[in-house]
Amino acid sequence: MNSNPTHQDTPADPATGWWTRATIYQVYPRSFADSDGDGIGDLPGITARLDHLVELGVDALWLSPFYPSPQADAGYDVADYRDVDPLFGTLADADRLIAAAHSRGLRVIVDLVPNHTSSAHRWFAAALAAAPGSPERDRYVFRDGAGPDGAQPPNDWTSVFGGPAWTRVTEADGRPGQWYLHLFDTGQPDLNWDNPEVREEFLGVLRFWLDRGVDGFRVDVAHGLIKQADLADWQEPQEILSGPEIDKPRPPMWDQEGVHEIYRDWRRVLDGYPGERILVAEAWVEPAERLARYVRPDEMHQAFNFEYLLAAWTAPAQYAVITRSLEATDVVGAPTTWVLSNHDVVRHASRLGLPIGGKRPNGIGIGDPQPDAALGLRRARAATLLMLALPGSAYLYQGEELGLPEHTTMPDEARQDPTWARSGNTERGRDGCRVPIPWEADAPSYGFGPTDASWLPQPPLWAEYALDRQRDAPGSTYELYRTALRLRREHRLGEGPLEWLASGDEVLSFRNGALTVLTNFGDAAVPVPTGAELVHASAPLDADGAVGTDVTVWVRPA
Ligand code: NOJ
Repeated sequence: MNSNPTHQDTPADPATGWWTRATIYQVYPRSFADSDGDGIGDLPGITARLDHLVELGVDALWLSPFYPSPQADAGYDVADYRDVDPLFGTLADADRLIAAAHSRGLRVIVDLVPNHTSSAHRWFAAALAAAPGSPERDRYVFRDGAGPDGAQPPNDWTSVFGGPAWTRVTEADGRPGQWYLHLFDTGQPDLNWDNPEVREEFLGVLRFWLDRGVDGFRVDVAHGLIKQADLADWQEPQEILSGPEIDKPRPPMWDQEGVHEIYRDWRRVLDGYPGERILVAEAWVEPAERLARYVRPDEMHQAFNFEYLLAAWTAPAQYAVITRSLEATDVVGAPTTWVLSNHDVVRHASRLGLPIGGKRPNGIGIGDPQPDAALGLRRARAATLLMLALPGSAYLYQGEELGLPEHTTMPDEARQDPTWARSGNTERGRDGCRVPIPWEADAPSYGFGPTDASWLPQPPLWAEYALDRQRDAPGSTYELYRTALRLRREHRLGEGPLEWLASGDEVLSFRNGALTVLTNFGDAAVPVPTGAELVHASAPLDADGAVGTDVTVWVRPA
């Protein structure tokens, strides 16, 4: 069963481990490839398309959740951590996918959702059936309500998706009873990580998937597991991002000291397995120094760099976030990571087509200001080429290699993200970046599956983004990524070091190994360094051979 490809008996080496320089491709199973035509992607669909990842040239894939789930939050509400939802296939399909990936030299990271279970988890059913104060309730965060008859929530916390973070239950005798905490949807009750049974259970879940051969875990809401013991009021609208200042009081639900002990326990489990298994934190924690605490030598291996994802497209902002990120992870001896898109944010080909410095929307719909698609794609290509030249590990989100934009005109009736309803229809949410991706221009559902079915509507005009239109097409975004990933490997760009050559208001330039990288953010074209040979570019050079606005080039200096 364990088909891990490395055949090494040693645990992960922080200096040379594969993940320190890897490119890791996020597969969102619902929307990658549908083998049975029901309109929802599945594990056999992914297995059948693995050669795409090999041709693209990535090192690993990360799979968003495929476990049994009522799908209240697209699978981030897990009812059984040791099985596969029939929507996506079977456990045998998961084994086949892992083996097929390993036989192609691709590593596999799975998603672990420890902050909350689904309300359909057997533990939550037991908690509802049991009395207040029972051991079953103690696996979750149940509290009596405030006010004379307990009719008010225990504190003022709000859900990340909008509305209160507490829901009141009906007790066995039919009377209104206690309240349970859910930082996300009502269908996602938060676990009580002070309960030893919860800790033991997740050690077992880790071993279950490690024994099946997975190479690591992406840890959902890694900064949320421990809450301040007094559950003090917070008086602020809920943000998944915690405070930006290192000396600001921590919100009582995020980034509490106690989470680190959990990851030390997990690290010991991973280190007991051969083949360099890794933990990746999804922790919306700022600033970079605070995030770096999750990747200390005895904790996780990587953390997503959301500060980078959120940084404005200006030379000073990009310079600041890159230097800060490298410095912060250097202190703890961990690799830096880079990411521009995922299943929770507006795709960067659209995000970068919005005015710089404007509000970062949580979804875009009909009636909202629309991004400038051409500008967005031009900047996205430049941003990607800049990112892929940085030392460290880079995360790619399915479809970005096609230059895929956000679906920004999806009919609201089609939306499925709980954010839309829970925010009282004020935040459109994340459906626009989760639309099934196009493989073949002229096939039903653009080749996503054998039928026209697609769980979210695909926009008209997506044929031009289909993989078969872009493969071998000079200048296509797919070929831009493929060449970049090949050169990144050949020139060992993931290993660095990075040496800055220019960091002004308009141009950023640095050397990484044998290559010089230059991004022009300014209005005026800038010359390619004298005598340098052009190796790769996010857009053609100007007629007189200069680097235009919003273009990144990789050159070999004279
Ligand atoms: C982060 C995941 O990326 C997101 O999709 C999910 O809604 C929340 N965590 C809650 O699990």
